[in-house]
Amino acid sequence: MQTEERDQLSATRTFLLEAINSNFLADENQLVSSLLADLKSEQRNSQQAQKLAEQLINGIRDRLAHSNGLQALLSHYDLSTQEGVALMCLAEALLRIPDSDTVDALIADKLAAGQWQKHLGQSESVFVNASTWALMLSGRLLQRDEHPEHFATKLINRFDAPIFRAAIKQAMQLIAEQFVMGADIGEAMQRAKQRNHYLYSYDMLGEAVLTAKEGEVFQQAYLDAISEIGKQCDTEMPIHRRASISVKLSALYPRYEYKRESLAVSVLTKRLLELAVAAKSVGIGLTMDAEEAERLNLSLQIFEKVYLDEALAGWPGLGLAVQAYQKRARPVLDYLLELAQQGNRRIPVRLVKGAYWDTEIKRTQQQGFSDYPVFTQKNNTDVSYLVCAHFLLGHQQWLYPQFATHNAHTVASILSVSTNNDFEFQRLYGMGEALYEQLLTGRAGEWQHGDIYCRVYSPVGAYRELLPYLVRRLLENGANSSFVNQMAHPERYEEDAVIAPDEMGLPDGNNFRHPEICLPGELFGSGRVNSSGVNFADPNELKILVREITRSLNEKKMSQPLVDGEQLGAEIRKVFNPADRHEKIGISQVLRLSQVGKVEQALETALSSWSEWNDTSVVRRADILRKAADLFEMYRAELIGLCVKEAGKTIADALTDVREAIDFLRYYAEQAVDKISEPIILPGFSGESNELSL
Ligand code: FAD
Ligand code: 2OP
Repeated sequence: MQTEERDQLSATRTFLLEAINSNFLADENQLVSSLLADLKSEQRNSQQAQKLAEQLINGIRDRLAHSNGLQALLSHYDLSTQEGVALMCLAEALLRIPDSDTVDALIADKLAAGQWQKHLGQSESVFVNASTWALMLSGRLLQRDEHPEHFATKLINRFDAPIFRAAIKQAMQLIAEQFVMGADIGEAMQRAKQRNHYLYSYDMLGEAVLTAKEGEVFQQAYLDAISEIGKQCDTEMPIHRRASISVKLSALYPRYEYKRESLAVSVLTKRLLELAVAAKSVGIGLTMDAEEAERLNLSLQIFEKVYLDEALAGWPGLGLAVQAYQKRARPVLDYLLELAQQGNRRIPVRLVKGAYWDTEIKRTQQQGFSDYPVFTQKNNTDVSYLVCAHFLLGHQQWLYPQFATHNAHTVASILSVSTNNDFEFQRLYGMGEALYEQLLTGRAGEWQHGDIYCRVYSPVGAYRELLPYLVRRLLENGANSSFVNQMAHPERYEEDAVIAPDEMGLPDGNNFRHPEICLPGELFGSGRVNSSGVNFADPNELKILVREITRSLNEKKMSQPLVDGEQLGAEIRKVFNPADRHEKIGISQVLRLSQVGKVEQALETALSSWSEWNDTSVVRRADILRKAADLFEMYRAELIGLCVKEAGKTIADALTDVREAIDFLRYYAEQAVDKISEPIILPGFSGESNELSL
């Protein structure tokens, strides 16, 4: 490639990456308005989509009515019930509690708290009603009785605990099996053979490893699985009609985080490349899963390097997942299109809505960002998904669309606009079967473009690796905004909200944001502002912070006693960075012993201003605290720099410390004004001047 051409490509890439980044925490109202305008400009046949969706929904309902007991149980005890939440906590906690006593205590707590009797006879499923009986009885028997006279209950409690523990663990194991295809790849592939009208993408359960060793174990597990899948792969079929493997980068390396950008990119590029080369050599595809929003930037860097590596030249098997709930989804597709054109081969793109929504919202609030990286309304995610789906279908030459969804409306919308069958749908193992069986067996609708393909994402692994994946599935099945949940609860099904998101009336005041999910800064209501954080995963924000910290550290730092406005101190001490003893960060002047009189003077001054402080009203004091908080925020970079250099902290820890100080100042200001109704006498003082007046 000529230098000029390369420069041009790199300028385009930089521009596209900037476009992605500028949407990181974009304003939801503006973004959704623009996505809606895009969607409205597309040729769509909403009526046809609606008709097909209705047909599919009837089929799903019909099948749910005869579904296996477990599916009914998951639907009945969903997250809108206290009991559903208790079961989810149990399922989650039982996976990680090592000792029996704690397991027994937890089971007793969770079952005793539920009002299981309320659910008796509420379900049409015999399995659900029988389970409710069991849960209710266990709850009663296991109740931790505070009254000594109820000796008999205690006795039962003691004797039966192991039996209950075993039974409940068994039940939770059943729930886990709903979502895991096999304990090992052999078992999973055996199961796949029994339902060979699907394609499969195997996933080695596990993520967010904590040690380098664990990462290496997963890398090897993936290599072994690729080799096993390859043995049974029919290489006569086109690549997109063969089995594939799905990989979570967080399972391969513990430092898959923006804080370790260059290390993470370098190690994970090597690891992913090794897996991709192995997949290519046995003829199967490989897809990189999408994980937390903060990893997107890293994941694109790694993907690009691996995709453009010579070893994979000409191989169209390397794909990645894109999350439509992220505000950056649509520009990510522009970037992938450009990459595919440069690499001169197709990129398979699995379009998902996104599985980490709750975590993204909570984390963003906790970190005090200016806005969220994901949409706050489900409908906005649907709009984004459809816009992205149109884009993929419009660029099939370069991007191979893989639509991963269990929502009949989404499927129907896609089928109503597609003009060929050069794409696939995907579902998760244990979900969406009622929907796709209808499409694969031709029972639903007129479909003129040949066979419909569906791939099953198939987790493989041991029970102990299941926890995060299981929690995401329970959340997905249990959230009342989710399509699968609405299928199980017809009363919650908001037809208008999901059928054609672009045809809905505009929300009140054109506000597309969720009315009950405030911006992170407003988390604590009108009383106080949340301290603002720094989005380290945004290279621009990080660059600005580092520049400010560096500038402030370049200024000479000196500390010295100040008594009554007089700068004192004679003895000069050099101050070094504890993390690098060679780095001098400033000087500190301290009093000599001979200047002890100055200490007394300082105390006297402090005591006299204390009494002045006592005469200050609470409202005024609160204002002073707030002002101090604002000043802390204004000088945040300088304070962070000092914490880093003087205490050897990381920037992230230093930021947390500064934010904590700001939050404390604002919290106590608010508490003082809200709660203090009585005068407070400070120790060592008496009389009127020591009372705090309101
Ligand atoms: P719907 O009920 O239509 O949508 C539910 C989704 O809407 C939620 O999951 C969430 O994304 C979104 N949502 C819910 N509430 C809100 C709200 N208030 N505001 C904004 N958005 C909201 N997920 C990943 O993150 N990475 C992956 O790599 C990945 N791989 C997958 C592979 C397959 C084959 C499948 C089927 C799913 C995969 N998923 C992945 C999970 C996927 O994100 C969820 O299954 C999907 O979001 C459910 O969407 P739906 O269309 O089936 O259901
Ligand atoms: C998840 O692990 C399927 O990648 C998706 O939740």
